[in-house]
Amino acid sequence: MRVLAISSNKGGVGKTTVAANLAIYLRALREDLPVLVVGLDDQNTIDRMFALSPLEPGTENLKHGWARRSLARVIQLGQYGVHFVPSPPDTALLKGRAEDPRTLRRILDRSEWEGVVILDTKSDLEALTANALFAADRVIVPVADRASLVEAGKLFRMLERAQLDPDKARILFTLVDRRSRGTLEGSDLLHLLAGEIERRGWPRYHTFLARSPRVESLISARGRPQSILHHAKGTAVHRQMRGLAEEVLVDLGLGDKGAGDGARAAAAAVVPGGSRAPSAVGARSDSVDWKAALLRGVWRRPD
Ligand SMILES: Nc1ncnc2c1ncn2[C@@H]1O[C@H](COP(=O)(O)OP(=O)(O)OP(=O)(O)O)[C@@H](O)[C@H]1O
Ligand SMILES: [Mg+2]
Repeated sequence: MRVLAISSNKGGVGKTTVAANLAIYLRALREDLPVLVVGLDDQNTIDRMFALSPLEPGTENLKHGWARRSLARVIQLGQYGVHFVPSPPDTALLKGRAEDPRTLRRILDRSEWEGVVILDTKSDLEALTANALFAADRVIVPVADRASLVEAGKLFRMLERAQLDPDKARILFTLVDRRSRGTLEGSDLLHLLAGEIERRGWPRYHTFLARSPRVESLISARGRPQSILHHAKGTAVHRQMRGLAEEVLVDLGLGDKGAGDGARAAAAAVVPGGSRAPSAVGARSDSVDWKAALLRGVWRRPD
């Protein structure tokens, strides 16, 4: 089992979009890899995206699995071959049962899931998020702007305070704006954010996700949120999601089967675990790759 948490204290940076779509791309790239999505949130986007039919009132959800200390009986097979756990109607009760931050990891260990678990967290740093950070082998921290960079700093500090390895977190640029088209020089904000991240020595994914009106309409549409893979093929974000999934497979040590060139390039770019100082060196050395990726992914083929 490998556990991936998507976390930021900043709302609306694309956590749920990344969690749900990454699950779909991982399944598409690796059909033999079971993928389970667990939303530690009371928004029901995950349920609406994955449930094969509308969930009956009274359907057992995360709260029931939590009480039983095993998710085995609440895991459902969903759309796109992705498994999910129905969201709890509210998180207040769960939070009360999550004071020990190691609880979720124990629950996952007892659930005997042989694959990847993706945890979508709420935009807070409270008990359930702390449980996700403890449970995770890798934490993806979306950064879309200065405010989310500041919030990323809080998350890194929280990992340190909890004596968790800050190196298990990776920044992912999301909602990258394409208005500053043509040259990197036009993208002052990204330059600034990338520079700040490099200076702090935070590891970062090579891939980034562009802001796309098409993607926004898929997810904010009424009814079932639609997958980027099935409904936005041919867009930059589709290629980027695929690149991210390949990178994540390598990053989780699952990249041998079926991972493409993007994954191998990414493997070289992702800063390996270890102390903070080598991270800073690694982050600096991949800045050239980042510029190349930015140009390739955002500007060459607008959607
Ligand atoms: N690549 C994208 N391009 C355009 N819009 C996007 C993209 N990714 C996400 N969005 C939109 O941004 C909004 C926030 O996305 P999402 O719900 O995934 O963020 P979140 O971090 O999970 O938010 P919350 O903190 O409320 O849980 C949604 O309306 C979504 O459709
Ligand atoms: Mg969300």
